Amino acid sequence: MQSNASLEAVAAARLHVGIIMDGNGRWATRRGLSRLRGHEAGVEAIRRVVEAAPDQGVGTLTLYAFSSDNWRRPKAEVTALMTLLRFYLANEIEALVRNDVRLTVIGRRDRLPDGIASAIARAEAATVDGTTLHLRIAIDYSARDAILSAAAHAATAGQLTRERFADLITGETNLRDVDLIIRTSGEKRLSDFLLWEGAYAELHFTERMWPEFDADDLADALASFHRRERRFGGLTAMAPEEVPNL
Ligand code: FPP
Repeated sequence: MQSNASLEAVAAARLHVGIIMDGNGRWATRRGLSRLRGHEAGVEAIRRVVEAAPDQGVGTLTLYAFSSDNWRRPKAEVTALMTLLRFYLANEIEALVRNDVRLTVIGRRDRLPDGIASAIARAEAATVDGTTLHLRIAIDYSARDAILSAAAHAATAGQLTRERFADLITGETNLRDVDLIIRTSGEKRLSDFLLWEGAYAELHFTERMWPEFDADDLADALASFHRRERRFGGLTAMAPEEVPNL
C-alpha cells in the first residue's frame, strides 16, 4: 500500500479531479490523420493539463488512459497505445520530478506487455517524493474489478469501514474522494471509471476533443464545479471534509 504523509497533507486540501480523455480517434480521423496521431496529440494534452492543474487548485489528477475494455480494440491500436505509454513513462520522469509531481498507476499490471510493469515501478519510485500534484494514470483499469479485488482482500482485513475499504480499492491511505469527473468529446457516461471514489463527484461533460483540451478548458470545468452546491445528501452546502459519518 502506497502512502506519503506530506503529499496527503497537501492533497487533502486540494481537489481530486478525474478525466475520461475521450475523442482522440475522432479528432484525428476528422483531420485525415491516423488514430495513433490522435493518441499522440492526447499525450500533449496530458502534459498541458498536468502543468496547469496545481495552479488551479488540483492536488490529485486521475487520468483514464486505457480501460480494461480497451483490450477489445484492434491489436495494432492496442500495441500503439502501449508503445506510447512506454515512451511516456521513460521520457516524462525528468519533467515530473522537476515539477514535483508524484506519479502512480492504477489498474492491473499482470496483462501489460513485457517491460511496462517495470517501467511503471521505475517511474513511481523516481517520483515518490512529489508533493505538488499526485498524478494517477489508470491503465488496464476497471472500477468494478478494483472493487471486486478489494472485496477479496477485505475477506481477511478484519473490521471493515467505508474508509478501510476505500484504502483497499485505491491502494492509498485516505485518498481524497473524486470531486469532479470531466469527460471530453461529448460522450456522457462513466465507462467503469472511479465508481467508488466518485460516488459524490460532480460531472462535467464537454464537447471539446481530448487532443484540444488545455488549461482554459480545465479552468472552465473547475469554474462550473465551483458554481455548484454540494450537499452530500443533506440540505445545506458542505465541503467533503465536513460530511459527518452516520
Ligand atoms: C479515448 O479516445 C482515448 C483512449 C482510449 C486512450 C487515451 C490515451 C491517451 C490520451 C494517450 C496515451 C496515454 C498515456 C498516458 C501515454 P478514443 O480513441 O476512444 O477516441 P474516439 O472515441 O474518438 O474513437
